Amino acid sequence: MTRRSVSWRLVTCLSSSPKLSLNVLCLVVTVFVLLQIWSFHITLQPILLPPSLLTYLNHHHQQQQVSHNDCLMEKLRESVTFLPLKDLRYSNKPLEGHTWFMSSLYDNQTKGEVQYQEFPSESSKGKLLCLKGFDKHDGSWNYYALAWPQALPVNASLKKGLTFVSYNHYDYGNMWHGLSAMVPFVAWSLRNQCEKPQRWVLYHWGELRFNMGTWLREIITATYSQEPEFVRFGDENTPVCFEKAVVMRHNEGGMSRDRRIEVFDLIRCKARNYCNISSSKTSKPQIGMTLLMRTGPRSFKNVSAVTDIFKRECKRVQGCELKVAYSNNLTFCEQVELMRNTDVLVSSHGAQLTNLVLMDRNSSVMEFYPKGWLKLAGVGQFVYLWGANWSGMKHEGSWRDPVGEKCLFPDTDRRCMSVYKNAKIGYNETYFGDWARSVLGKFSVRNMEDVVVRNHDGCQC
Ligand SMILES: *[C@@H]1O[C@H](CO)[C@@H](O)[C@H](O)[C@H]1NC(C)=O
Ligand SMILES: *[C@@H]1O[C@H](CO)[C@@H](O)[C@H](O)[C@H]1NC(C)=O
Ligand SMILES: *[C@@H]1O[C@H](CO)[C@@H](O)[C@H](O)[C@H]1NC(C)=O
Ligand SMILES: *[C@@H]1O[C@H](CO)[C@@H](O)[C@H](O)[C@H]1NC(C)=O
Ligand SMILES: *[C@@H]1O[C@H](CO)[C@@H](O)[C@H](O)[C@H]1NC(C)=O
Ligand SMILES: *[C@@H]1O[C@H](CO)[C@@H](O)[C@H](O)[C@H]1NC(C)=O
Ligand SMILES: *[C@@H]1O[C@H](CO)[C@@H](O)[C@H](O)[C@H]1NC(C)=O
Ligand SMILES: *[C@@H]1O[C@H](CO)[C@@H](O)[C@H](O)[C@H]1NC(C)=O
Repeated sequence: MTRRSVSWRLVTCLSSSPKLSLNVLCLVVTVFVLLQIWSFHITLQPILLPPSLLTYLNHHHQQQQVSHNDCLMEKLRESVTFLPLKDLRYSNKPLEGHTWFMSSLYDNQTKGEVQYQEFPSESSKGKLLCLKGFDKHDGSWNYYALAWPQALPVNASLKKGLTFVSYNHYDYGNMWHGLSAMVPFVAWSLRNQCEKPQRWVLYHWGELRFNMGTWLREIITATYSQEPEFVRFGDENTPVCFEKAVVMRHNEGGMSRDRRIEVFDLIRCKARNYCNISSSKTSKPQIGMTLLMRTGPRSFKNVSAVTDIFKRECKRVQGCELKVAYSNNLTFCEQVELMRNTDVLVSSHGAQLTNLVLMDRNSSVMEFYPKGWLKLAGVGQFVYLWGANWSGMKHEGSWRDPVGEKCLFPDTDRRCMSVYKNAKIGYNETYFGDWARSVLGKFSVRNMEDVVVRNHDGCQC
């Protein structure tokens, strides 16, 4: 029996055209019938022949069908084609449209919503996403492919549950860049019954990453109520396929302001719950003003002089409390709590400003830059202006130091940026005083309007 089935498998697999296999079938049947007739001829009972022949043929037909399917599946598995994750043909426009990451696939775009890809889905025709390769330095040595669940590539392992695959053009260490990469996933979860990922795959330019900054890690842990787990690939030839995968490669691009605000509302709410921060209004100052200081690059040259100005202005407003904090030595939960108690955030340009999304909505941000940034630093310098807008805060403007380090070239020469980039920031007593007064003045009026909204409790997920 086994010998027969083996030979049948061989016959069907060898014959690639159905015609040929039919011919072979006919031949075998003919030989068989002749044999049967010959053997039964002796017993002279030809009447018994048809039922036994029928059973025999039926049996073989089914077996042929099964092995034929096996054979097709085998071919399907062999035909899964892996393409480089980073497509160098698009290196001149790596972020446009389908981007250079998984460039053969298109995102699902609904106006105002997050741009994403989901596998399996209608557009993947039910195919799963498979990834391969463990290169940390060149994304064109890592690969992706789509495969039907019945025909996963040879040697592939299947990861159950939901996997988030993130493409970040910048990095996962910087608070702002990392947060931008997380926003679309949280937006997706909000639209999909708060579904949580079982694991993450992080890519930067198609290169694998296994880590993220502490602050970001805590934000994710708080948002999804579980520590993120990062996929590690065993070796370069073992593909990993995902039962369900969601891919993001445009950060918050395409999302309307309302959608972004929803995401930050959830992150803020989750972070406060995670840190056990009381939601009662009485535990917070009427107007909290916080100087969030940096040490080193872009810190204030004269901390005490700057502090004195804001202290003086805060004292003039009833209910105002001033705090001076250093971002470098606050734990995550200390930052969350500080931001909850902050209505006016005073800080120089830098990653610590990402904390602004954790303030109550409608809070104010005052930002400071060293000399030379406006002309030389590019659009990236406006991230906290955007970030404030996207999270429902009020960016109250920026002060740009007119005095700075000496540069050998004209002020607009790009070579000066290396001089200005990490310079320290001075102060202007008159300007800072007037500015603080005007922001605090607006705030005390606003604060009274918002009583109802500030009291809300419970997160959306
Ligand atoms: C695209 O997303 C919308 C929801 O935003 C969904 O209804 C639709 O089925 C998706 N289309 C595909 C092809 O996945
Ligand atoms: C599958 O794994 C086996 C054993 O590790 C290996 O010999 C074989 O080459 C692999 N096949 C492919 C297509 O990678
Ligand atoms: C918050 O409270 C819970 C339960 O009381 C506790 O297990 C958890 O460690 C607390 N978290 C923090 C950050 O204090
Ligand atoms: C800082 O400013 C104060 C008062 O504005 C001044 O007395 C002090 O000398 C300054 N310190 C430095 C290091 O410049
Ligand atoms: C935090 O850092 C600042 C500056 O490095 C330092 O002056 C301050 O004492 C530190 N605070 C704590 C609680 O360690
Ligand atoms: C923010 O302030 C505006 C008025 O400036 C008010 O209409 C709005 O309701 C406030 N929103 C929140 C969430 O507090
Ligand atoms: C945010 O930006 C949009 C468009 O750029 C603008 O219409 C809106 O008023 C801004 N909102 C705030 C709170 O600054
Ligand atoms: C400080 O700011 C005031 C008010 O904006 C301005 O008139 C003055 O010129 C500034 N002083 C310096 C030294 O830049």
